[in-house]
Amino acid sequence: MFVWVLRGIDEPREVHDVSGYSDGVIRAGVIATAFWGLAGFLVGTFIAFQLAFPVLNFDWAQPFTNFGRLRPLHTSAVIFAFGGNALICTSFYVVQRTSAARLFGGNLAWFVFWGYQLFIVLAATGYVLGATQSKEYAEPEWYVDIWLTIVWVAYLVVFLGTIFMRREKHIYVANWFYLSFIITVAMLHIVNNLSIPVSFWGSKSVQVFAGVQDAMTQWWYGHNAVGFFLTAGFLGMMYYFVPKQAERPIYSYKLSIIHFWALIFLYIWAGPHHLHYTALPDWAATLGMVFSIVLWMPSWGGMINGLMTLQGAWDKLRTDPIMRMFVISLGFYGMSTFEGPMMSIRAVNSLSHYTDWTIGHVHSGALGWNGMITFGALYFLTPRLWGRAQMHSMSAINWHFWLATIGIVLYASSMWVTGIMEGLMWREVDDQGFLVNTFADTVAAKFPMYVVRGLGGVLYLTGGIIMCWNMWMTVRGGAKHSAPVGVPAE
Ligand code: HEM
Ligand code: HEM
Repeated sequence: MFVWVLRGIDEPREVHDVSGYSDGVIRAGVIATAFWGLAGFLVGTFIAFQLAFPVLNFDWAQPFTNFGRLRPLHTSAVIFAFGGNALICTSFYVVQRTSAARLFGGNLAWFVFWGYQLFIVLAATGYVLGATQSKEYAEPEWYVDIWLTIVWVAYLVVFLGTIFMRREKHIYVANWFYLSFIITVAMLHIVNNLSIPVSFWGSKSVQVFAGVQDAMTQWWYGHNAVGFFLTAGFLGMMYYFVPKQAERPIYSYKLSIIHFWALIFLYIWAGPHHLHYTALPDWAATLGMVFSIVLWMPSWGGMINGLMTLQGAWDKLRTDPIMRMFVISLGFYGMSTFEGPMMSIRAVNSLSHYTDWTIGHVHSGALGWNGMITFGALYFLTPRLWGRAQMHSMSAINWHFWLATIGIVLYASSMWVTGIMEGLMWREVDDQGFLVNTFADTVAAKFPMYVVRGLGGVLYLTGGIIMCWNMWMTVRGGAKHSAPVGVPAE
């Protein structure tokens, strides 16, 4: 069965690529996104239950199944494998349609696709076997980093080459966002991974930065991974798929340009908000805090531009579950980019830091914004790429929408409650100034909320499984469309 779907990827042009674009690699990317999404949600749900029921760390299988090894497996699977594949395949789709040109470089796009999958597998096997340089979101050791650099440069060549070959005079704003994501991620990846390999077989390396410089470089990287991987790239997606699905032009082109430049200028300075109350000088943390607060504005510029695109088409929300996914995703984007600036304020951060409030913030952005917009894009792309009239089941999309939405609400609200509760418990002192609660007290108090979070994960995962079934049924059956569905006249 799997072979059958894959064969569909390279079926003769007249069957699928009636559009004249290189769509085979995008079909592969759509499958990879769905596959890695399920894997990442599954590991996320499992580690969520590990935190509630430590017995799930399975003593007999140590050290491979402990939380410490599976956590980076989750973060990398969802961010880099699920999110990364979504970004690569949608950027390939969008850049061709908006440039009226095929992908540049022929099979180089396939090298990017398979090279990226190899990077994911190398990174994941490293984590489980214990090879890590212990930098969050940049855990892979030097051999994986070098490989990713090669693949990423090829990605840049394909994307930029297509833009250079374009037959449209204008470069549509979605491509600006994608391009800023590709270039900045290259810069972040190279600088944050500057290290000296000290063993080949042991795959160990030593960072060139030390102490507070290392911490600053790491959070300059970490925050901009959020800013450029999870935000700028996904805004590129938003700027193409929301207007297409709404069948409306983007609300304000001027606003898109202003908030693009403001966003990329501001994000790059905000990293020090991760290092409040550390050895980092106060002035640097204050700088990060100020830039983070100002960042609220361009972030909402993007949200407003996306939402207002529905002006005159709000009725679609009643009938179109894909549009509903896009709108809820923008809502969560707005929510997390209000919460983030607030958490960056030093006084608020003194409560939120080290607590589950951060985890709630992360997942309202990740599940709500990144997840929902990706699901919407996959539903948009699947029928078009496989030449089907529409998705196999609209009611299944509706189910997915509600399961995911309720899952996010359970996840985020339980983490906000635990986060604020544990933050306040850690601070509580008696009349004589002694701490009232031990650390273990706060862990025990969080138990019910950890179970609720796990259930939220189960719902989110179930929605993902329904989506995969629906995609599979769409690819397998349904009326073939004679004309390329939805190929836009940009
Ligand atoms: C079924 C859905 C998911 C579940 C149940 C889940 C669960 C978890 C859990 C239990 C943790 C560890 C929290 C801790 O250490 O206290 C975590 C961390 C994390 N997850 Fe997820 N996750 C899910 C989906 C996602 C998605 C889709 C993304 C991104 C696109 C994501 C990004 C992250 C990140 C960035 C962290 C690290 C947060 C930090 O260090 O502050 N997760 N997740
Ligand atoms: C204006 C936008 C945003 C600002 C100013 C912001 C700010 C913050 C702050 C202050 C923290 C807590 C740092 C700490 O106490 O250690 C944080 C954590 C985090 N945020 Fe945001 N945030 C924003 C948007 C987002 C969005 C949209 C996402 C996801 C899609 C996101 C993902 C994360 C992640 C993954 C972390 C956890 C990092 C870690 O400690 O591992 N943020 N953010």
